[in-house]
Amino acid sequence: MGSVLGSWRDSISANRGCHDSRQDVSYTDSLRPHVLSLNNTASDAGFNLSFEDISVYKTSLKRHILFPASGTIHSGSFVGIMGPSGSGKTTLIKVLAGKVRPSSGAVYVNNQVSSHIVLRSLVAYVPQDDIILPDLTVREAILYSARIRIGGTFNDRNLQQYVDYLIASMGLQSVENHLIGDATGRSISGGERKRVNISLELAAAPSTLVLDEPTSGLDAKAALSVMTLLKRLSEQGLVVVCVIHQPRSEIFALLDRLLLLSDGKQVFLGSASASLNFVTRLGVAPCYKSSNPADTIIDAISNIHQAGFSALTDSDNYQDSIPTGSWVSKSGTERNGDSEGRSSNSGGLPALMQRAQQRRASWHKQAYLACLRGLVQQSRQVSSLALEITTGAITGLLIGLSNFEYKGHLFQGVFLPPLRSLSSATSYRLLAEQGMLCCLAIGCAAGPAGVILFAEDRLVLNREWQSGHSPSAFFLGKTISSIPRMAVSALHFASFYMLLTTPMIDFGQLFINCLLYFYCIYGLGCVVAALVRRQDAPVMAMLISLVFSALSGCAPRLATVNEWKLKWIWIIFPGVWFSEANFNENISPLSSLYDTKTAAETVGYTLNRTSTDLAMLLVIGTVYRIISYIVLVFSSRKNQS
Ligand SMILES: Nc1ncnc2c1ncn2[C@@H]1O[C@H](COP(=O)(O)OP(=O)(O)OP(=O)(O)O)[C@@H](O)[C@H]1O
Ligand SMILES: [Mg+2]
Repeated sequence: MGSVLGSWRDSISANRGCHDSRQDVSYTDSLRPHVLSLNNTASDAGFNLSFEDISVYKTSLKRHILFPASGTIHSGSFVGIMGPSGSGKTTLIKVLAGKVRPSSGAVYVNNQVSSHIVLRSLVAYVPQDDIILPDLTVREAILYSARIRIGGTFNDRNLQQYVDYLIASMGLQSVENHLIGDATGRSISGGERKRVNISLELAAAPSTLVLDEPTSGLDAKAALSVMTLLKRLSEQGLVVVCVIHQPRSEIFALLDRLLLLSDGKQVFLGSASASLNFVTRLGVAPCYKSSNPADTIIDAISNIHQAGFSALTDSDNYQDSIPTGSWVSKSGTERNGDSEGRSSNSGGLPALMQRAQQRRASWHKQAYLACLRGLVQQSRQVSSLALEITTGAITGLLIGLSNFEYKGHLFQGVFLPPLRSLSSATSYRLLAEQGMLCCLAIGCAAGPAGVILFAEDRLVLNREWQSGHSPSAFFLGKTISSIPRMAVSALHFASFYMLLTTPMIDFGQLFINCLLYFYCIYGLGCVVAALVRRQDAPVMAMLISLVFSALSGCAPRLATVNEWKLKWIWIIFPGVWFSEANFNENISPLSSLYDTKTAAETVGYTLNRTSTDLAMLLVIGTVYRIISYIVLVFSSRKNQS
């Protein structure tokens, strides 16, 4: 094993020399303005992050997934976290980033205990999965993040400039106007996507960057370039912590410090070169000898269980790993700096928090930005909009055709006195059926569309919320941005229906009725998108909206439902209110000729309350959105607990 470690040591120094020359770093030049920009925007750059005895106990598993871990990470360090799969790496960095609350212990920023809320504001977290909206360009996505995260203190010109620097630093100029795309559509490369993912967090000009496997899925060259970039950022004073899985030796050589985890236990924290001695002293032979030091280390700590964990409690092994002497007070809330003489940063926590909050765009600006982004997204989802419009138009056309033979004569009532004796057979049901058919048609068109519009935002909302975006502003902006789309769809449906059916209702009124019903069904789509698996959601949304639409008070009649004492159930559904408004507006022009009161009573509707009907549609659609918002927030909180 000695020769392997020796060759690894040589390779580290060789690589150090190579990278220190910085000749091979294509980003160096473009990074310089970015760093200047960071210094301007991140005047709080350079704080220390410490953690003391943090553990995570999962009650569902009835075991710890992270045993008490402690350490200090100083500004300007590039720290790698390594360990076998399932050893708790992601769990540890999520605690450091405030995404998961520890069961015990505390995380300190500048030697002050920091809650998960503080950490979330101050630590930028790049998740392993690239959760990015596919319909935006690279520049739009990064600019949006910058506007939200630091738009409170910088004007748009400065932000644009900052994003230019950032894009240049990340080597993304050639694709800055390309759509990000996803696995199903045209897309930028995996490496570029990863760099966009990191840029979304760097857009906040953070002081600490925590990344979960930033090189996963990248080829060797792309992985090295991403890690080199992170190293350069750390050299500018940022704390950079990243989980890294089997790095090649050049990447390993970039790390300043290494934290090793095995089976949820911290087994080492110290300089990358000291990890060599640690593995040697551990006395656990790797299964095979590799020229890659990272492979050798992972292999060795994977065998720790065979050697017995007690070997790790030896003070020699632990000395470099956990600076226990640095903790002045283990139980107190303040620490007085560590024994290595690193002074505590001048930035007090309240001041840092205040600055982080000031930097963020105000709530209404976030809602405005989310609305603009939603409009851009929809303008690029042409095929989905076309499908929705076509469905609305075809269903409007078919219903219109089926009514064509009535030539607009959809109602036959009893004449008012003195013409009552001239009355022929009455027909109230046809008009009630029109309401139900319209509801079914809109349900077909809007149910799946509502799901699609919100389903892909579900993960993004979660990520952005955790990064400090306001979820309610996001939700409101998204809802407002969907109104033009609903209006276009409602207009197509109403036009075809009106043209062929020629009902008595005024076109403007019909359009508003349809628009509000679209609003309800889109809201229903939001609820389904929040509750059901993405692949099942469109079909489920259509099914539920068809059921809701069928319960419109036509069959069974609302009057019959009332006799069953079940009207309170029916009025929860939007179909009843739409149909009542439709019924009213069609017969009100005839009220001087027919006994409309008896007609309405026979079906079960109430006359002359169209504004109440429309208000109820608005309320129901809004309630659906509130429900979906609560579900999303609840599930997001559950994921974090
Ligand atoms: N929310 C959770 N509920 C239950 N178990 C969990 C949860 N999150 C993680 N675990 C378990 O905790 C352990 C550590 O998970 P973690 O994701 O931190 O590992 P990891 O080191 O990042 O693994 P990998 O390298 O495969 O990403 C695993 O056994 C995992 O199954
Ligand atoms: Mg992981």
